[in-house]
Amino acid sequence: MKPFVHEVRSTRIVFGSGTVSQVRAEVERVGGNRVLLLASERLDDVARRVGESLGPSLAARFDGAAMHTPVEVTERALEVLRSHSADCVVAIGGGSTTGLSKALAARTNVPQVIVPTTYSGSEVTAVLGETREGRKTTRSAPEIRPETVVYDVDLTLGLPVPLSVTSAVNALAHAVEALYSPQAEPVTDAIALDAITRLSRGLRALSADPSDVDTRADLLTGAWLAGTCLGSVGMGLHHKLCHTLGGSFGLPHAQTHTVVLPHAMAYNAPAVPEVMERIAGALGVPDAPAGVFDLIAEVGGPTSLRALDFPLEDVPLAVELATARAYPNPREVTSPGVAGLLSDAWHGRRPASRVPDLGWLTAEVVASFDATPDPRTRALLADLVRRLHSYATENDLTQTEWRRAIDFLTRTGQISSAVRQEFVLLSDTLGLSSVVDALTNSRTPGSTPSAVLGPFYVDGPPAAPSGADLASGAAGIPLWADIHVTDPDGMPVEDAVVDVWQADDDGFYDIQLPDLDGPVLRARFTTDEAGRFTFWSILPSAYPIPDDGPVGEMLAATGRHQYRAPHLHFMISAPGHERLVTQLFVAGGDHLDSDAVFGVKEELVVDFRPATGATPDGRPVEGPWRRLDFTFRLARTTGS
Ligand code: BEZ
Ligand code: FE
Repeated sequence: MKPFVHEVRSTRIVFGSGTVSQVRAEVERVGGNRVLLLASERLDDVARRVGESLGPSLAARFDGAAMHTPVEVTERALEVLRSHSADCVVAIGGGSTTGLSKALAARTNVPQVIVPTTYSGSEVTAVLGETREGRKTTRSAPEIRPETVVYDVDLTLGLPVPLSVTSAVNALAHAVEALYSPQAEPVTDAIALDAITRLSRGLRALSADPSDVDTRADLLTGAWLAGTCLGSVGMGLHHKLCHTLGGSFGLPHAQTHTVVLPHAMAYNAPAVPEVMERIAGALGVPDAPAGVFDLIAEVGGPTSLRALDFPLEDVPLAVELATARAYPNPREVTSPGVAGLLSDAWHGRRPASRVPDLGWLTAEVVASFDATPDPRTRALLADLVRRLHSYATENDLTQTEWRRAIDFLTRTGQISSAVRQEFVLLSDTLGLSSVVDALTNSRTPGSTPSAVLGPFYVDGPPAAPSGADLASGAAGIPLWADIHVTDPDGMPVEDAVVDVWQADDDGFYDIQLPDLDGPVLRARFTTDEAGRFTFWSILPSAYPIPDDGPVGEMLAATGRHQYRAPHLHFMISAPGHERLVTQLFVAGGDHLDSDAVFGVKEELVVDFRPATGATPDGRPVEGPWRRLDFTFRLARTTGS
């Protein structure tokens, strides 16, 4: 049991879109009559709008806030505040503007309304960090905590991605250090974990659409929650290091947080493994420090102090400054430890995962295949084991995940039957069938590309004469197909056996419809001396692959759709030639670029040309019909 103290010290929060219009009301609420407006030139537009809304209450504007809140800047702003008899501060901007506002409040006790435009989170704390003669000092007092914060998501939509990334990682650092703070308690823990989830989710979604309101709302909410942690519990080594590097070496605040965080986490991880597990859970990664490092790298944030132009020679001085005074941290802060941490951060090394080296075990299993008589079997099994072991170790696979995988595979087997092949479907939806297929194609460059077999092939379909109708009355747009089969030189292949199968207009294969009487939309043809056969069928349409089994679960869990682009299947066998299993896709059809089984190949997308009137074999057809003309080229069997 861990004892704790929980105390609510709250700032009023107004959160939403367009909320900047409420600043004036919030100024009135805190009793402000003469406002000093702090902003930066970058936010001139918003500052003007707010200034106008304040009308005569706007006493003055000051634009000179600077990073790390230098006292000289505060003195100048203080003069403006005094000379205009301001009795309230409105600050629009990032951490620097908020810092200046708090520095003024610390000196004059003026009420503050803060409009944050980055994710610094300092707007909800009573802590002020200032720099005087190159040293950063921090202090805390009730009057430093802003009275009101107005979060307007709209103001963050245009925040440049690099700045958004570093600012959000700065916020992430507040939540991380809150979780292993000596003052940590259930409320701050819950808030911190939620902040980590939101910030990491927002970061991952950011580059896809930086102005997505939901993504920005995640990041801004995460920043507020993380700031609340910062304001409630003490921070540790990470913050100390960042203050040292920022205050004494002039390194940029948010970028420094971004580089240092994974390394500070890795340093503390051995002392608080259970905290790191909770963080990893919130991030959705196996290992928290490595996961944070990977996330930063993935979103393009800085990962080394070298990239921030920090001289390697300054590491010893930074170590000295950061270890000069003791402060609470879960793991003892030692000079050699911090030197190692900063060296890793300087080089941008990925924090080593705590996963043990299991190379000996892999070697033992691989060696167990040494006596396999067939060398290919031996090689395939040995490599499979190597890759499976490294998959497990690199992802730090847990027992729960492994059991889930076993359960998934067990159910994949259980749902399979003579007419349902869930393993094939799994291979297809993981793209593995297409990989094997592409390898096959690469061995026979002159022939028509192959495509996945799919689970709906039935061996021995009913033989049909050229010109037959596969549809047996199934509804759909009539399709006339005129097919030729040749060798790689274009010479006709006679007596090729060609199986054709397809789904009906509703997207079902006959074997999925147990009430259907006999095979429908599938047949076996034989080519004539010109290598030709023809048939009638219906135009294939897009259809969903079966989603009532484990594969469907996987698609749902990953937000993938289950549609196949419209296609006809062919399997062609002829003596002296390689068997060709392929599909022809309808040009212009749906899902050609997002086929659920990654089966579409450009050369297999063909015109199913619209036609009207007389048909090639004189069959009467009412209304429009389609026509497919295609020549398949078979590869010769090696050696023939
Ligand atoms: C098919 O085209 O029949 C198919 C292929 C792979 C998975 C599911 C269906
Ligand atoms: Fe199909």
